Amino acid sequence: MAPISFSSSSSSSSSSSFILAATICLAFILHQAQAQLSATFYATTCPNVSTIVSNVIQQALQSDTRIAASLIRLHFHDCFVNGCDASVLLNDSSSIQSEKNAVPNFNSARGFDVVDNIKTAVENACPGVVSCADILALAAESSVSLSGGPSWNVLLGRRDSLTANQSGANTSIPTPFESLSNITSKFSAVGLNTTDLVALSGAHTFGRAQCRFFSGRLYNFSGTGNPDPTLNTSYLATLQQICPQNGSGTALTNLDPATPNGFDNNYFTNLQNSQGLLQTDQELFSTSGAATVSIVNNFASSQTAFFQSFAQSMINMGNISPLTGSSGEIRSDCKKVNGS
Ligand code: HEM
Ligand SMILES: *[C@@H]1O[C@H](CO)[C@@H](O)[C@H](O)[C@H]1NC(C)=O
Ligand SMILES: *[C@@H]1O[C@H](CO)[C@@H](O)[C@H](O)[C@H]1NC(C)=O
Ligand SMILES: *[C@@H]1O[C@H](CO)[C@@H](O)[C@H](O)[C@H]1NC(C)=O
Ligand SMILES: *[C@@H]1O[C@H](CO)[C@@H](O)[C@H](O)[C@H]1NC(C)=O
Ligand SMILES: *[C@@H]1O[C@H](CO)[C@@H](O)[C@H](O)[C@H]1NC(C)=O
Ligand SMILES: *[C@@H]1O[C@H](CO)[C@@H](O)[C@H](O)[C@H]1NC(C)=O
Ligand SMILES: *[C@@H]1O[C@H](CO)[C@@H](O)[C@H](O)[C@H]1NC(C)=O
Ligand SMILES: *[C@@H]1O[C@H](CO)[C@@H](O)[C@H](O)[C@H]1NC(C)=O
Ligand SMILES: *[C@@H]1O[C@H](CO)[C@@H](O)[C@H](O)[C@H]1NC(C)=O
Repeated sequence: MAPISFSSSSSSSSSSSFILAATICLAFILHQAQAQLSATFYATTCPNVSTIVSNVIQQALQSDTRIAASLIRLHFHDCFVNGCDASVLLNDSSSIQSEKNAVPNFNSARGFDVVDNIKTAVENACPGVVSCADILALAAESSVSLSGGPSWNVLLGRRDSLTANQSGANTSIPTPFESLSNITSKFSAVGLNTTDLVALSGAHTFGRAQCRFFSGRLYNFSGTGNPDPTLNTSYLATLQQICPQNGSGTALTNLDPATPNGFDNNYFTNLQNSQGLLQTDQELFSTSGAATVSIVNNFASSQTAFFQSFAQSMINMGNISPLTGSSGEIRSDCKKVNGS
């Protein structure tokens, strides 16, 4: 930045000039910190990148109706651990303990092969230009819009990490067994507020979950000898069929029983009907006195309000601690650090 100087004739105007200059510098730095990503980052270097990403996902959806949900979840699990830096995509190596083997991801996170297909298609069009972290952000937006949800201008310019943080993934990503106050803390730790929490939880409008993540609610909830009292009794009966006691913890069911593959606001009407699948879903509506309740009601009554908030909150999540400028690198293979 060019130095800012003012001529002055008195010491008092000189010191106020200094304060003014310092204020301008500070404002510039703060602005920079918040505005490093840009919707037009690849406008000249890879103008078709969004289309390329979207085309690969459309292709993948033909054989896997779940893939859109799986891809947005990868962006979430990336951003909550050391920021949106594609750390989640790195495989184990001599120097890396992969986040893929962290508790929230192991035998759960999926879609890595499709990310690799997207990366190959993007590299064919614009070699060495687009980061894996930006691919995850673009894939999240495409996945939502291709499923009937909102579109938004994805901010771009993230770079890829040189490391992973498996212990960070173990502790920073929310689990479905936590209290609302713990979940709220984990969001707040990455700068996301209660509106973001409720809006982003609305991503559970599509995709699947394994019995092991909610079967604790079905028979003996918290050692009470009874099911979770906040679970709708007819929905409970359905879930008990899908997840018999002592059955396989890996059986799958839809996160949104109403419209399993569509991106809409039914997730929120489900919560009003005591049909949230995960304990942490239902807590948003059933925790008495919580600030989340009125937000759930608002999104249940207006899909437009939900879509608008969701798009804003995805941008907020995508802004978590990106690597920019000359930090990190543009990986050529999303699974490994360049030259390793
Ligand atoms: C609020 C805290 C959250 C918790 C506790 C949570 C937990 C979970 C769990 C346990 C699953 C099932 C995984 C499996 O069965 O293998 C899941 C699936 C999913 N989550 Fe979340 N999640 C949360 C927030 C989010 C957010 C913020 C997003 C995205 C913006 C998201 C998107 C998804 C999607 C789309 C799926 C389905 C994935 C698939 O079918 O492959 N979740 N989540
Ligand atoms: C972008 O994609 C369209 C088709 O989707 C193609 O016609 C056009 O040539 C591409 N532009 C560039 C710069 O690759
Ligand atoms: C990378 O890790 C994934 C998930 O753990 C695994 O399926 C895949 O085989 C690994 N790929 C390579 C090239 O090691
Ligand atoms: C993450 O959690 C798993 C399961 O508890 C544990 O085996 C692994 O060592 C943890 N990773 C780190 C780096 O703490
Ligand atoms: C790993 O993540 C934890 C929790 O998010 C954080 O406190 C820690 O600083 C991270 N470690 C590294 C080396 O980035
Ligand atoms: C909430 O977080 C605290 C502090 O990390 C932990 O001791 C407690 O077990 C958590 N509670 C739940 C329900 O997860
Ligand atoms: C959360 O932040 C958004 C701005 O992204 C703001 O509009 C909203 O009112 C905030 N919500 C709460 C509960 O503070
Ligand atoms: C429920 O779990 C508690 C604590 O684990 C246990 O003491 C109790 O016997 C269980 N009740 C039933 C009906 O299985
Ligand atoms: C589940 O297994 C426990 C012991 O592991 C047994 O006591 C119980 O009867 C079994 N329940 C059913 C429904 O099979
Ligand atoms: C249970 O779900 C049904 C719809 O399947 C709904 O009519 C009923 O009101 C729900 N019950 C509760 C307690 O929310």
